[in-house]
Amino acid sequence: MKRFLQKWLWKRREKETTNDLPGRLLRKLAPKRTRFAAVDIGTREIKMVEISATGGKTEVTAFCRVPAPVGELGEAVYEEALVNALCDMVLSSGIQTKEVITTIGGNKTITRHIHVPALPDRELEATVRLEAEKFIPAAVGELTIRYLKLGETNRAGERYLHLLLVAAPTTVVYDYYGVFTRAGLIIAAIDLEAFSLWRVFGGLETSTAILDIGASKTQLLVVRDGVLQFTRTIPAGGDLLTRSLAEHYGLTFQEAQRVKEEEGELLGKEDATISSTAAMQVDFSLRYGLSGLIREIRRSLDFYATQYNAAAIERFIISGGTSKLKGFREFFAEAMETPVDSGAPGIYGLPEYREEAVSYDPTCAVVLGTALREVAG
Ligand SMILES: Nc1ncnc2c1ncn2[C@@H]1O[C@H](COP(=O)(O)OP(=O)(O)OP(=O)(O)O)[C@@H](O)[C@H]1O
Ligand SMILES: [Mg+2]
Repeated sequence: MKRFLQKWLWKRREKETTNDLPGRLLRKLAPKRTRFAAVDIGTREIKMVEISATGGKTEVTAFCRVPAPVGELGEAVYEEALVNALCDMVLSSGIQTKEVITTIGGNKTITRHIHVPALPDRELEATVRLEAEKFIPAAVGELTIRYLKLGETNRAGERYLHLLLVAAPTTVVYDYYGVFTRAGLIIAAIDLEAFSLWRVFGGLETSTAILDIGASKTQLLVVRDGVLQFTRTIPAGGDLLTRSLAEHYGLTFQEAQRVKEEEGELLGKEDATISSTAAMQVDFSLRYGLSGLIREIRRSLDFYATQYNAAAIERFIISGGTSKLKGFREFFAEAMETPVDSGAPGIYGLPEYREEAVSYDPTCAVVLGTALREVAG
């Protein structure tokens, strides 16, 4: 368990080299791993993928999506349902590796961007701890804290480091570990959703905002010239639209979700004159739900704009289930007055992927990016 915690996030490799000599030697003798599996436990769906990377070719070898149980980690019934779902997914997807990488996101982690004077690594640890204490609420208990150097800037002749701080309650890390172990899987590492998306969509030469709009949350990141500039989890997603439909039509959440996914459509200007009253009512209700989501996205982008070195967003890439809503891309481009591309992983990202020319469902951007963690290095 201790070794697993040390493997948390990107510190994995450095830590291993310092205090795990026998393990290191064994790994050197073992054949190089070519298969990598990832699991994304979303609010609406669990996604599992396995990729194989051999001879410069990366391809998906197993894939599975199932509805996620409702609940929170720490709740026995929810955890039991998760274990069962993971067991079923292993069987039905046919993944061969038992080692998986997963992500922690949403309200389970606290992330902050900070700029601190450049210091040697040992002194940096202490500075990071001090900074972390400023923004972490006293009530969260024991935390696992990590940081990643995103870049360096020069201000009035002084060198500053741009760091991303990540803190997660240690209990959450243990809960994840317990659930996967009970399903016969081993967590090889825990990643951040933002990094997974950065891997899949981040190799662009513009100032791009990437938004993975799920059910309960939206992961925002801004990437410029391939460098991660900003990341934030917005606690709003497609559930806002479902609730709006449910209230409007007096439906249950499940019924409203079905209506949204199967019949939901945002009408364009030219559709307005030819559409039925029923379609116009659905459009109205969806727009009502979307107004809350757009407000939250704007607020986060406004916050990014106040950050040191921020640049205007030249384009958006959208992924996640809510990006599949008919008419959403056009609606969002109009709302943001900026070009918007649909993020079907497989079109953007690694050159190997581009050659494969396979488009995966936009809900799978996170899980594919997570599986690519070891491939992308
Ligand atoms: N065709 C569709 N039209 C509209 N909404 C859709 C469609 N397909 C899926 N959705 C919505 O997308 C959301 C699920 O997307 P996704 O799988 O990316 O979320 P998740 O990863 O499970 O959740 P989260 O990331 O918030 O924890 C749900 O709100 C679902 O209703
Ligand atoms: Mg998600």
